Amino acid sequence: MRTVAVILAGGTGQRMGASRPKQLIEVGGRPILAYAIEAFNGHLGVDEVLVVMAAGHVRTAATIAAPFHKVTGLMEGGDTRTASTVAALTALTGRSDDTRVLFHDAARPFVDPGVIDRVLEALVAYEAVAVGVPSADTIVAVEDGLVLSMPPRESLARFQTPQGFRLGTIRKAYELALADPLPAATDDCGIVHRYLPDVPIRVVTGSERNLKVTHPLDVVIAEHLAAEPERRP
Ligand code: CTP
Ligand code: MG
Repeated sequence: MRTVAVILAGGTGQRMGASRPKQLIEVGGRPILAYAIEAFNGHLGVDEVLVVMAAGHVRTAATIAAPFHKVTGLMEGGDTRTASTVAALTALTGRSDDTRVLFHDAARPFVDPGVIDRVLEALVAYEAVAVGVPSADTIVAVEDGLVLSMPPRESLARFQTPQGFRLGTIRKAYELALADPLPAATDDCGIVHRYLPDVPIRVVTGSERNLKVTHPLDVVIAEHLAAEPERRP
């Protein structure tokens, strides 16, 4: 059974406010996108890598992806992350329902092999797998500037990627989501949770290094992580 990693690089990085999409920003002398592709290209459990790129930057992505032999497809994304995921699912039309698919944010350059291992291991028994880390901060629900509820911190996790699925399951969830006039959920596990509520979603442990580069301060942190001894060539 094959495992396909999808690198979602279809966003434009509005919160970063840079002149180009944040996945093209260089840290340690290489674009963030290159690290994300490399992590999956170099993992023994991954057979293929697809890259979904923001419109207008597909050729740049092709140049970045060229050295990585597992990259078999490069396609343009959509206006939302959901639409970019759908572009990848469309490219996987005709593949067996048993195919394993991992969706990863291109903006997370430092996903380590252990996190990918844990997702793949969990996918043996589960059809949907998420990566979570405990929150150091207390998280509360707020409405109109007032606290609505305070779930116990121990029961909360912050989601990272990759999120892994049996292809048949994520395909079915998106079919239902696309037929629904309501706005879609913000991530792929959210789509499964909403449209296939009986499918259990296994949560495995992520890593603080697997940060999503989102704001300018994150680029400073990413530069430090890129310079860690284990990442030096
Ligand atoms: N993404 C995508 N297609 C979109 C939007 C987002 O493939 N239309 C990808 C991004 O490229 C990123 C990941 O989904 O790797 C997580 O999204 P996010 O961090 O929100 O990135 P952006 O949408 O680019 O940033 P912002 O929300 O600040 O504009
Ligand atoms: Mg976004």
